[in-house]
Amino acid sequence: MAKAKSPVPPSQPASVQRPPAEVLYAEELARLTEADSGPRPPGWKLTLGGVRTFILGDPGLGVRKKFVGNPALVDRAMVTLATNRGLMLVGEPGTAKSLLSELLCAAISGCSTLTIQGGASTTEDQIKYSWNYALLVAEGPSPRALVPAPLYQGLRLGQLVRFEEITRCPLEVQDSLLSVLSDRVLAVPELEGEFGMLFARDGFNVIATANTRDRGVNEMSSALKRRFNFETIFPIPDFRVELDLVKEETERLLSRSGVPMTPDPRVLEILVTTFRELRSGETHEGQAMERLSAVMSTAEAVSVSHAVGVRGYFMRGEPGTPEDIVECLAGTAAKDSAEDMKKLRRYFEQRVSKRKEDHWRRYYEARHLLPG
Ligand SMILES: Nc1ncnc2c1ncn2[C@@H]1O[C@H](COP(=O)(O)OP(=O)(O)OP(=O)(O)O)[C@@H](O)[C@H]1O
Ligand SMILES: [Mg+2]
Repeated sequence: MAKAKSPVPPSQPASVQRPPAEVLYAEELARLTEADSGPRPPGWKLTLGGVRTFILGDPGLGVRKKFVGNPALVDRAMVTLATNRGLMLVGEPGTAKSLLSELLCAAISGCSTLTIQGGASTTEDQIKYSWNYALLVAEGPSPRALVPAPLYQGLRLGQLVRFEEITRCPLEVQDSLLSVLSDRVLAVPELEGEFGMLFARDGFNVIATANTRDRGVNEMSSALKRRFNFETIFPIPDFRVELDLVKEETERLLSRSGVPMTPDPRVLEILVTTFRELRSGETHEGQAMERLSAVMSTAEAVSVSHAVGVRGYFMRGEPGTPEDIVECLAGTAAKDSAEDMKKLRRYFEQRVSKRKEDHWRRYYEARHLLPG
């Protein structure tokens, strides 16, 4: 008897949704490493120049620009990381603090995954180390029973550790970084002898990020603040630069989502204009207007633009339209505030209605798609 054919062809293993930067840009990093000569701080995989090129790009070397921002900020961030102070990136949500921290770690340490995600329930165990309880009960505390957390690994391997949203952690948990940052040693009181003290290897440091909308850095202990250099990341000031970034990021995300189409430039223009106006409280023409309390960051603009493209292609087989923007906007711009929804409606009536180009008219005509 013939063997029945499997009804479903063997499928390819699904791709990783979001590989870390060192995997995504492995080829660029390999090329930069090869071409990179000159002095570098101990424990670093690249020189400062190499790290800068990786982050800010160089078309001549085929290296993509990944972070749009002031090159001097990137330089200061690198210099801090080569000293014995941590780096604190602060700013509005969605200004690429996490992205910059990931890129710095990938370029400097070759690894961006030693990451602590700060939150109300973060504990010291998740930062330093915990124990394998079966081994702990069977053998007592031993190096074998110790389960390293990112900080322990960073010290041991001489790599950068990321601490995301540090100000969302309880203050006593934040302060558990103090001795590591000043003395560069982690005590493991349960272990004796050489295992009781873990001394940091060259290359170790901490990059923390904090969002100005959450509980602020003001509440952080001054002892901890002194152990960090602060860098503030601002939203992108220039319209064209933000438009180009949103375009490029949307194209990248759409192609990963299986959408073989590029976004319509007029749709991108509407989207970026809307986000900038509602964020800044000023129209493109320079008139004052109401701003939303919701976060209207570049990161949000990219994700709405991605959704617009996905909607257009998978629902109708065409690029996203101005109507799709209206459909996707409500969930971003007026997440949890009825007041924001009213402002958004007024924005359509008072601002969008004044613009006479075809694509803006279509946008205005679609305002009934806003919920409520
Ligand atoms: N200056 C920028 N350069 C490059 N990408 C940017 C920039 N600003 C925003 N983006 C976009 O936003 C995304 C990064 O957002 P990211 O999560 O790093 O922001 P964040 O500041 O950490 O936000 P949050 O405070 O919400 O954690 C990028 O993937 C990119 O699409
Ligand atoms: Mg972040």
